[in-house]
Amino acid sequence: MDKLINLDERLEMCASLVRESARLADVGCDHAYLSISLLKSGKISFAVASDINEKPLKSGEENAEKYGVKNIEFRLGSGLREIKSEDKITDVVIAGMGGEIISEIINESPLTKDESMNLVLQPMTKSEELISYLYENGFEISKQKCVVSKGKCYTVISAFYSGKSTEIDEAFKYTGKLDLNDEINRRFIKAEIRHLENKSKGDSSLSAVIEKLKRVIV
Ligand SMILES: C[S@@+](CC[C@H](N)C(=O)[O-])C[C@H]1O[C@@H](n2cnc3c(N)ncnc32)[C@H](O)[C@@H]1O
Repeated sequence: MDKLINLDERLEMCASLVRESARLADVGCDHAYLSISLLKSGKISFAVASDINEKPLKSGEENAEKYGVKNIEFRLGSGLREIKSEDKITDVVIAGMGGEIISEIINESPLTKDESMNLVLQPMTKSEELISYLYENGFEISKQKCVVSKGKCYTVISAFYSGKSTEIDEAFKYTGKLDLNDEINRRFIKAEIRHLENKSKGDSSLSAVIEKLKRVIV
């Protein structure tokens, strides 16, 4: 099939943060649409698409065949465990998982501590835990954006290892490097405030961060 894949806005945003000519590790690839689309458009030259579960991996393999995509290898396994040095991976995408799982995957792999590695991370929940993890463990965010996809607002981060841990304040865990003049980014923070307000019923420890977030988006 010669058609390009139309990614949804969330995956399109992830794809936009992958670098030209990258060799990609697509962790938790599921349908593998991201890798297939990037290969078909010629933006990347090679991908390892991996998944911890057999069923999604199989659907990815079927899609690669359906779209006639070469230069993609499918591997069953957790996180980045199946990546080999000869894959010469330059960019990693970990999308569509919780922030805490993404942190665990980054933490257990030496590959992510290569300063030239571009990590594209798209947490479905708990982005604040991921941002805390990154700064406490020597990573830095280079870009962060939000996107609305199927009526929901998601954040996408690109990060790299600098080796320098940085202390961040409570509000930064939520805002990260988002440009708060942008309406979609503000929408994301408003949703985080609502979530914190629901969580804080009867728990005053969250009041300070809620107030601070309200102040930064006025
Ligand atoms: C919701 S899907 C996201 C698929 C795709 N990345 C996206 O963003 O549309 C999450 C996928 O991650 C896989 N997964 C969950 N934990 C994983 C892990 N530790 N290592 C690799 N894959 C994992 C699941 O099997 C599932 O296919």
